[in-house]
Amino acid sequence: MAQRALRTCWTWLKTVPEGCWRHCNQRRRDKLVIVQRNMALTNLNTLGIAAKASYFAEVTSLDALATLLADTKLASLPRLVLGGGSNIVLQQDFAGLVVKIALRGVQCEALGESRLLRVAAGENWDALVKSCLQQGWYGLENLISIPGSVGAAPIQNIGAYGVELSDVLVAVSGWDLRENCLRRLSASDCELSYRSSIFKTHLLDQFIVTEVELKLSHSPSPNIRYQALADALPSGVDVTPELVAETVARLRASKLPDFRLEPNAGSFFKNPIIEASNAAELQAEHPQLVSWPMPDGRVKLAAAWLVDQCGWKGQRVDGVGVHPRQAIVLVNYEHCSGGNVLALAAAIQEAVSQRFGVALEIEPRIY
Ligand code: EPU
Repeated sequence: MAQRALRTCWTWLKTVPEGCWRHCNQRRRDKLVIVQRNMALTNLNTLGIAAKASYFAEVTSLDALATLLADTKLASLPRLVLGGGSNIVLQQDFAGLVVKIALRGVQCEALGESRLLRVAAGENWDALVKSCLQQGWYGLENLISIPGSVGAAPIQNIGAYGVELSDVLVAVSGWDLRENCLRRLSASDCELSYRSSIFKTHLLDQFIVTEVELKLSHSPSPNIRYQALADALPSGVDVTPELVAETVARLRASKLPDFRLEPNAGSFFKNPIIEASNAAELQAEHPQLVSWPMPDGRVKLAAAWLVDQCGWKGQRVDGVGVHPRQAIVLVNYEHCSGGNVLALAAAIQEAVSQRFGVALEIEPRIY
């Protein structure tokens, strides 16, 4: 199977110096892209589902992406754009073109105390967080250890431990498939909300993210408003961004399984958001209910608590199961098909609906 050896000449993440804007901006005009047939996707999705793609291409430059999209034979096929593959469920073989975004590079510009970062979509999110921390660029530390690529981050507005991407996002650039051109959307154009964005709604399948712009700070300002994080911090020490990152990484490792050992897609269900009156009724019936008030007056419930209460934690059915330490993480223990994973998800949704009258929504995208 042919592997691409081409690269853009963007500076690699680990070596990026501050103020290297102009240097990094010189991209090689690299149009070659190799399309492979019947490509196995098992190692390209973190649920480890053994599906195949009829056509597969990895793009390492914007010109290669443009070349691929201009191919008339491929244009009529269904398309799946892949980043880290950490938020998808493949129900069956994909009878179309899978495009793996492997654009690399990061640029940084100093703006007073702030740092403006332009990060190519194919960079690894966790590596970016660690690299920023090392350079003293703050704001991403609560988002450490989240699997996936930078380009996937705005699609579901990744969030953890009191911080969401929306807190630092400036803009998203990408290929607009309707207009067939590159387009830059400001953060407000992206319509980010809890685990959602315009890329999951109006622009679904119409926009391929190629670059994300973030505004970070050179002065530390640790965010420890998330109670579970505050509780996990050691007492009597200065809270630094490094300590926050270390604590979040420890918390995540203690309850979220490593997909390399136990294939999973992170939280499989969104935390449901319900009306306050409905939440009050549930609270009266179930005093232990875990919930958080939302700024708009509604109430967010802990999906993990709802699933746990239904007795699903640690259960296994047909090679897939609910993780013993985190009730909303489904694990594909035996590299089963997406069908097995979705059958388990449906059984859990039914149980939660029966017991609490609450609809659980699946978070990963199903193909
Ligand atoms: N809980 C249970 N049983 C469990 C797990 C949790 O009852 O098995 C209870 C906990 O006691 C806690 C509540 O549920 O009171 C919430 O649990 P946790 O703090 O572990 O967070 P979560 O709601 O399960 C969300 C995000 C995670 C994110 C964490 C931390 C969603 C769907 N999930 O999880 O994001 O890391 O908060 O901020 O919003 C992801 O999206 O893939 C993800 C991992």
